[in-house]
Amino acid sequence: MKSFIAANWKMNKTVTETREFLSAFIPAVRDAVDVDIVVAPPFTALASAGELIRDTNVQLAAQDMFWEEKGAFTGEISSAMLLEAGCRHVIIGHSERRQYFLEDDAVINKKLKAAGKAGLGLIFCVGETLGEREANRTFDVIRREIEFGLEGIGAGNLVVAYEPVWAIGTGKTATPEQAQEVHAFIRETLRKLYGNSADSIRILYGGSVTPESIDRLMACRDVNGGLVGGASLNPESFSKIVCFKKAIKET
Ligand code: 13P
Repeated sequence: MKSFIAANWKMNKTVTETREFLSAFIPAVRDAVDVDIVVAPPFTALASAGELIRDTNVQLAAQDMFWEEKGAFTGEISSAMLLEAGCRHVIIGHSERRQYFLEDDAVINKKLKAAGKAGLGLIFCVGETLGEREANRTFDVIRREIEFGLEGIGAGNLVVAYEPVWAIGTGKTATPEQAQEVHAFIRETLRKLYGNSADSIRILYGGSVTPESIDRLMACRDVNGGLVGGASLNPESFSKIVCFKKAIKET
């Protein structure tokens, strides 16, 4: 399966900083093979990033979108706006959207439906908080997020990102064993929805991924890529992550 490594810049980088990043990053990953390389800048930098990545092996994603096509929704961004800027994918349901902007499963489902209908690739995020993990509720939370979030969504354009909230921005990467356990559970849950098509859905790990941790994470059977925050802001460290060392998949 082709790997999928995506940078989520969150609220970082101006247009100028985006240009600087891409002018160093694009040549650094030019020879990377068998990996979808995706960068998600903030909305304001999408259009110029879209021009810089044209005819390269780097793809563009947005970090969010609204589900309506147009109209009186001050501050919101539609799928058509993203497509015109050159986006091929959109991140939906990031834990920061859930936590700070109160997005629930129903809102996320509407966004996924609208993005899918527009032909955007979906990078759908799920993950438990530390409290939920400590209360042994990880699987319940993930099952709920998947079942409600993906209601009515096809498997075709779907990538799922497992991002344990306790690992995001904390420097506490999940161990490969912790990641594999949840990824296998996600695969099993997807199989209930999509049958054998679940085997071709890429499941990304996100949460304090670094050039040092990526190889062992990618060696896990059900880890098919990464969604990277902090370590994606520097072209050198993100290109190292994209060019991770491929190993035979462990169990
Ligand atoms: P960090 O890599 O900074 O922990 O962020 C992960 C993340 O939230 C990516 O979407």
